[in-house]
Formats: sequence, C-alpha cells, structure tokens
Amino acid sequence: MRPAHPSHHHHAARHLPRPQQRLGSVQEWWVYGAGAGLALSGLGWLVCHYLLHPPGPGPNPLEVWWLRLHGLALLVFLTVLGSVLPTHVRLGWRHHMNRTSGSLVLGVAGLLALSGYGLYYLVDDDLREWTGFVHWIAGLAAIVLLVTHVVLGRKRRD
Ligand code: HEM
Ligand code: HEM
Repeated sequence: MRPAHPSHHHHAARHLPRPQQRLGSVQEWWVYGAGAGLALSGLGWLVCHYLLHPPGPGPNPLEVWWLRLHGLALLVFLTVLGSVLPTHVRLGWRHHMNRTSGSLVLGVAGLLALSGYGLYYLVDDDLREWTGFVHWIAGLAAIVLLVTHVVLGRKRRD
C-alpha cells in the first residue's frame, strides 16, 4: 500500500531500507568507465569521419581503431548494464526513486543497442546512414541523460 499524498510518499521512501539499491562504488565506476569508453570512442569516430580530412583516398584510417575500441567498450558496458538491472533498477523502480530519468537512461541504452545492432548488419547504404544518425544522436543524448540521472539521484539523497 502506498500513501496517497506525494509528500508522504517521498518522506516514506527516504526512510525505507534500501538493500543494494545504490550501486556499489566499484560497480558505479564500471558504469562511468565503460560509459566514458563508449562515448569517447564514438566521439573519436565522429571527429575522424566528419571533421578530419583523410590523408589518402578512402576513409580516415583511424576510424576503424575507434570502432574497435567502441566494440570493446560496448561489451563491457552491456555487461555492467546487466549487473545493474536486478538490483539498482528493480529496487529503484519498486520504491519510485528517480524513475523518470532512470527509465530514460534505460530506454536510450535500448535504442543504442538496437541501432548498434543495425549498424553491424544493415547493408543498404541509405538505411545504414540513417541508422548511424539515430545511433550517434542517441549516444549524445545518453551522455546528458546519465549525468542528469546521477545528479538528480544525488540531490534526493541529502
Ligand atoms: C549501449 C551503448 C552502445 C552500443 C551497444 C553501441 C553499439 C555500436 C555498434 C555495434 C556500432 C557499429 C560498429 C561498426 O560498424 O563496426 C556502433 C557505431 C557507432 N557508435 Fe555506438 N554504441 C553505443 C553507444 C554509443 C555512444 C554513447 C556513442 C556516442 C556518441 C556512440 C557513437 C557511435 C558512432 C559515431 C558509431 C559509428 C557510426 C557509423 O558507423 O555510422 N555509440 N555503435
Ligand atoms: C528505471 C531505471 C532506474 C531507476 C529507477 C534508477 C534509480 C536510481 C536512484 C534512486 C538513484 C539514486 C540512488 C541514491 O543516491 O540513493 C540512482 C543513481 C544512479 N543511477 Fe540509476 N536508476 C535506473 C537506471 C539506471 C541505469 C540503467 C544506470 C546505468 C546504466 C543507472 C546508473 C546510476 C548511477 C551511476 C547512479 C549514481 C550512483 C548511485 O547513487 O548509485 N541507473 N538511480
């Protein structure tokens, strides 16, 4: 049973025991590390692809290295994301804590995984280019959303 008045609810939620809802400090740094790896490798690719002129014909030779790094970071990130679901997300959701920004982070991560999958297997040029756009715009949004989510989470704590 949930109290009807929202302020009661906030008050109550603050005093509930929160077994393992907060990320452990190690887990938290894995989120930031893998997230930063994804974002920086994605941004590195964008800079090479759109801003730097390739030295010879064909794409900039650094692009492929950014994508190799990106692939490594995404394997780590998705593993960390999986570890966050049964504790952080489930308990936070159950206690109505930081739900809006948390759902947005989760949603945009899903969109990134889906569009990233598309980038691996789509061969039609137009469709692939369009998927690439969706993907990196979602990537930039993800950075802002995760930061917002953490800041809002911190604010509620004290
Ligand atoms: C859950 C998070 C993410 C997943 C699963 C993911 C997955 C992928 C995959 C599978 C590719 C294709 C690699 C290839 O063609 O060899 C890719 C490319 C790319 N990703 Fe991500 N990514 C994620 C987050 C991000 C973020 C945060 C950014 C930041 C801007 C980003 C930017 C890019 C860019 C610019 C490309 C190259 C696009 C293209 O080839 O047209 N990604 N990503
Ligand atoms: C619906 C989904 C989610 C909910 C309800 C939720 C809830 C919360 C809450 C309540 C806090 C503040 C905890 C506190 O300070 O006491 C928080 C912080 C945080 N969240 Fe989430 N979250 C969700 C999804 C995610 C996802 C998918 C990630 C990572 C990919 C994430 C990463 C973080 C991080 C790094 C913090 C700061 C560290 C911490 O305080 O634990 N969250 N979240």
